[in-house]
Amino acid sequence: MILVTGGAGFIGANFVLGWLAHSDEAIINLDKLTYAGNRENLCSLGNDPRHVFVHGDINDLPLISGLLARYQPRAVVHFAAESHVDRSLHGPEDFVQTNIVGTFRLLEAARGYWQHLPAEAARRFRFLHVSTDEVYGSLAPDEAAFDENHRYRPNSPYSASKAASDHLVRAYHQSYGLPVLTSNCSNNYGPYQFPEKLIPLMIVNALAGKPLPVYGDGRQIRDWLYVEDHCAAIRRILEAGDPGETYNVGGWNEKPNLEIVHTLCALLDELCPRSDGKPYSEQITRVADRPGHDRRYAIDARKIARQLGWRPAETFATGIRKTVLWYLDNPDWISDVLSGAYRDWVDKNYGERDR
Ligand code: NAD
Ligand code: DAU
Repeated sequence: MILVTGGAGFIGANFVLGWLAHSDEAIINLDKLTYAGNRENLCSLGNDPRHVFVHGDINDLPLISGLLARYQPRAVVHFAAESHVDRSLHGPEDFVQTNIVGTFRLLEAARGYWQHLPAEAARRFRFLHVSTDEVYGSLAPDEAAFDENHRYRPNSPYSASKAASDHLVRAYHQSYGLPVLTSNCSNNYGPYQFPEKLIPLMIVNALAGKPLPVYGDGRQIRDWLYVEDHCAAIRRILEAGDPGETYNVGGWNEKPNLEIVHTLCALLDELCPRSDGKPYSEQITRVADRPGHDRRYAIDARKIARQLGWRPAETFATGIRKTVLWYLDNPDWISDVLSGAYRDWVDKNYGERDR
């Protein structure tokens, strides 16, 4: 079996569901169930015996060591993190605690477990760290996309904490020989994404008749990848990646934020028109920019294509349509996540922004 951390979050849940659809190998899913973790994301599994859910924190070294000793997984796939840039600007400490200290504790537990495995099991063991393109910082308009040798220059507490975790993972390979793999992926979108992130926030606000808050000039560029393509890349890296290597994962799909928002509005106009017949784009509102906002990310995904044969299966047109349809088909999931805590966050992040 494998141990997954953060498997009740957006990408983790998609990974767990995809894994169990592709394989009979069981998963132990360790998740703290922060505001971003949601057991409903996994409810389609029912009581599937291949899925063991453990409510716990990656900072809890005895808990993790106990899980490793008891279940003897052949791999750890590490998604658990604080993941939202805006939250890291309001409260960086949780990011340091989970993304840096938590990753360190997980590495310590994995090292202790791995060192005592029989030789063949130790040789086959993998620790796969799921990271982000944000560690590389911001690209100029004409700069080449991030490859695996791009210098690290994180600009937010979130990206700095992920960069620190990447360095720790690398060090555990260099210093102790732990067979680690790191993936640095671009912006994901798809089912089960918490509506604090751009795409689900715009869909949820549009349907609720609320403003669609575009930061600054809306010309910041992200490289969008459908979440199932990211999960397929992780499965492939786990299967065939070389220990110690990093793999950049992206969609070859750079788009400015305003274009994303207009695309969502047009899809909603088609699939769920406003009752007054007006276009959703009327709800677009410019708000004050995110401090330290990175202008552009773009991933050079040639290494993973060349060495591991992975390429995205979805185009942006197919992936974004599936995503909008998923949110339209799951109003109960949306209303469940729009709790009091979510409203408090919206007030904090958007309440003080100048129009
Ligand atoms: P998410 O915020 O949706 O989910 C994070 C999950 O981790 C939640 O289930 C949460 O409960 C859990 N968690 C948080 N702190 C924990 C702790 N201390 N112990 C155990 N569990 C804890 O995040 P996501 O968007 O699914 O991202 C998953 C991973 O992928 C993160 O490491 C993130 O940095 C990385 N990543 C995300 C994207 C993206 O576009 N969303 C892109 C590239 C990389
Ligand atoms: O690049 C990978 C990263 O992508 C991941 O590591 C992060 O976990 C993930 O959150 C994401 O980070 P971003 O900051 O790029 O994603 P977010 O959805 O928050 O914002 C995308 C862009 O949209 C960004 O330029 C900010 C802008 N934005 C976002 C929100 C929430 C707005 O204009 N308005 C908004 O309300």
